[in-house]
Amino acid sequence: MIGLGSDHNGLQLKQKLLSFLEQRGEEVRDFGTPSDAPIDYPDIAAPLAEAIRDGLIERGILVCGTGLGMAIAANKIPGVYAAPVTDVYAARKARESNNAQIITLGAHLVDIPLAFAIVEAWLQAEFHGGRSSRKIAKIRCLEERYSGRAAAVQAVGGRPC
Ligand code: RB5
Repeated sequence: MIGLGSDHNGLQLKQKLLSFLEQRGEEVRDFGTPSDAPIDYPDIAAPLAEAIRDGLIERGILVCGTGLGMAIAANKIPGVYAAPVTDVYAARKARESNNAQIITLGAHLVDIPLAFAIVEAWLQAEFHGGRSSRKIAKIRCLEERYSGRAAAVQAVGGRPC
């Protein structure tokens, strides 16, 4: 299942992406926003990223004006990785190298055909594993270090990151 969310700036592109994904045969959960009334992007990014963390959905697409606020907010959820992308190459690498479960799009930066091409490339890509797994494990270590969990692990004799 793919989660889809936007703020007011991303609403029109989100609606186009919803049709695109459904025509592609994807199961989609819409996290809002349902109207063009202004809404703060973290209020959409957080529930979608938490659904990924909780295993309720596998992937997500978030849209705001630039894609930046959505990415910054979603990346606060440990174990969830959101990549702001503006081209097909980065979309593919976001999955192959970074194993990003979320891409974020800027409705002010990409037109609809490019957004569709980006989403298609990201959906078709698979994580390569290998050396990329080690790098992602290091990101998990950073999350633990700055959440205080690494210190807790060390305190009980565990091996710190
Ligand atoms: C509006 O809140 C604007 O900041 C938002 O759409 C997005 O561009 C943020 O990164």
